[in-house]
Amino acid sequence: MKIAVVGSGGWGTALALLLLENGNDVTLWSFSEQEVQNIRKTGENPLLKGVPVPEALKLTSDLRCVQGTDAVVLATPSFAVRETAKKLAPLLDPKTVVISVSKGIENGSFLLLTQIIEEELGGKNVVAALSGPSHAEEVGRRVPTAVVAACEDLAVAEWVQDLFMNERFRVYASQDITGVELGAALKNVIALCAGCIDGLGYGDNTKAMLMTRGLTEIARVGEKMGGRKETFAGLTGMGDLIVTCTSMHSRNRRAGILIGQGVEVHEAMKQVGAVVEGYYAAAAGCSMAKKFNVEMPITEAAYNVLYNGAAIGDVFKALMTREKKHEIEEIWL
Ligand SMILES: NC(=O)c1ccc[n+]([C@@H]2O[C@H](COP(=O)([O-])OP(=O)(O)OC[C@H]3O[C@@H](n4cnc5c(N)ncnc54)[C@H](O)[C@@H]3O)[C@@H](O)[C@H]2O)c1
Repeated sequence: MKIAVVGSGGWGTALALLLLENGNDVTLWSFSEQEVQNIRKTGENPLLKGVPVPEALKLTSDLRCVQGTDAVVLATPSFAVRETAKKLAPLLDPKTVVISVSKGIENGSFLLLTQIIEEELGGKNVVAALSGPSHAEEVGRRVPTAVVAACEDLAVAEWVQDLFMNERFRVYASQDITGVELGAALKNVIALCAGCIDGLGYGDNTKAMLMTRGLTEIARVGEKMGGRKETFAGLTGMGDLIVTCTSMHSRNRRAGILIGQGVEVHEAMKQVGAVVEGYYAAAAGCSMAKKFNVEMPITEAAYNVLYNGAAIGDVFKALMTREKKHEIEEIWL
């Protein structure tokens, strides 16, 4: 297959190498020509250190590389998905399947990234998503990993599954693209909070509480938005939550650790040195909670710390002393 991977961050690069290994003709597009030159000169991407980039991987900063492809993998930071899809629109053949691998939600519109892409492409191309617990650094090192390929059209989801799957990268197919994308975007908020808990010096009990109750509120809003409950217990829900809340590869968690240690929010994000998607997802999550009239206390607490300068200690105490609840909400319905 002829494939263009648009976005040469760590994730775009790791997936481009995987697709190359699977026998495809792959071009990796970079946002700047300087990134292209840098990768070619050093033989590796500084955003994916220690992973050789072979000559067989074509590199370019010319977006016309998407013309005539079977698939385009869209791997930019989430804030750049709309502008990039807009640029792709006049270049894409209608037969090209677009696969979104970024994680995020558009604030205000609550659109999922695949919905933004569909909107910008005028519905001419089929759009799928690939998501799951998958650090680029580990996929780049060929660490065994499992993810989900999602598309409302199951045949397309299975086509994407075949494209990426190999003996160290297992892919499950799903039709629940809403659940898959929502879990991926909202868990970044919980990962940021998990970092705060580490920064504050709390323990494993606290982290387990946060992850479990965090997933409950993600599933609560996710179901209202049309996702399936089971999806939130799967790879893109619980799976991705585990990996981002426990790993130092997670920039959201790293930012949270600094914030928990008392570093100012914007300074913490600067020190992490990469896009902290959870910061934006916290704003989107809070708006969604209001719009769909569901409780998302952890996401709202994160928003208050990140945007309103609330003290973590106060916010944490308020969460712990909320009115008592039943664990399973249906019981009191
Ligand atoms: N890194 C991972 O392990 C990983 C895993 C799964 C999913 N993701 C998701 O994939 C997406 C990309 O993440 P990443 O870590 O590869 O990269 P990143 O978010 O660190 O972004 C870095 C890249 O984005 C490019 N960029 C900056 N501004 C741009 C713009 N306006 N238009 C297009 N490109 C621009 C930069 O040139 C650079 O190549 C994110 O949404 C992330 O959540 C990342």
